[in-house]
Amino acid sequence: MKGRIIFATGNADKVREIQMIMEDSGMEVISMKEAGISIDIEENGSTYEENALIKARAVARYTDAIVMADDSGLEVDHLNKEPGIHSARYLGEDTSYRIKNQNLIDRLKGVPDEERTARFVCAIAAVLPDGRELTTRATIEGRIDYEERGSHGFGYDPIFYVPEFHKTTAELTEEEKNKVSHRGKALRLMKEELKTL
Ligand code: IMP
Repeated sequence: MKGRIIFATGNADKVREIQMIMEDSGMEVISMKEAGISIDIEENGSTYEENALIKARAVARYTDAIVMADDSGLEVDHLNKEPGIHSARYLGEDTSYRIKNQNLIDRLKGVPDEERTARFVCAIAAVLPDGRELTTRATIEGRIDYEERGSHGFGYDPIFYVPEFHKTTAELTEEEKNKVSHRGKALRLMKEELKTL
């Protein structure tokens, strides 16, 4: 499939990441803002896929282009997969990640390495001009660290330790993270799906 993709997010970093991944596909990726679409979308789904579809469908009403959206979160096994789809809203949308991260570290006090398992999950949704809908999902497995480490990335990256790298995702470069991240993998799966259409 060729053409233009509008990515339904206000986050410029996400748009840049998907532009990098889609570069070789022949499709142009632009942000909602660049497409002149400015709407507030309430993410009230109960799964990552539902939330990504809610965002993509909302923007698709305003355009004939392909619309893509993502939804992601952090699942901590010891905390019954919290904060999960509520990751951005955990302890309040405006609370700093220093506080959110310290809170998770505190809640895992005394919990041994093997029970500190966690994963980032990302679902990507695409709504096509003919109304067809596609979703992909991917994860990256890791553990909640004992303290914040690293200055790259965002959100929960400083406490998300990836054993195979002996680093948190905040200690990986943007390119290293994109190769292995939940979002990078889910986006590449979506790129493959779009190629087959
Ligand atoms: P979304 O923008 O609604 O998908 O929000 C997902 C939330 O999950 C973000 O605000 C972060 O708190 C968290 N999150 C998702 N992906 C990552 C990541 O790659 N690094 C750090 N935190 C992430």
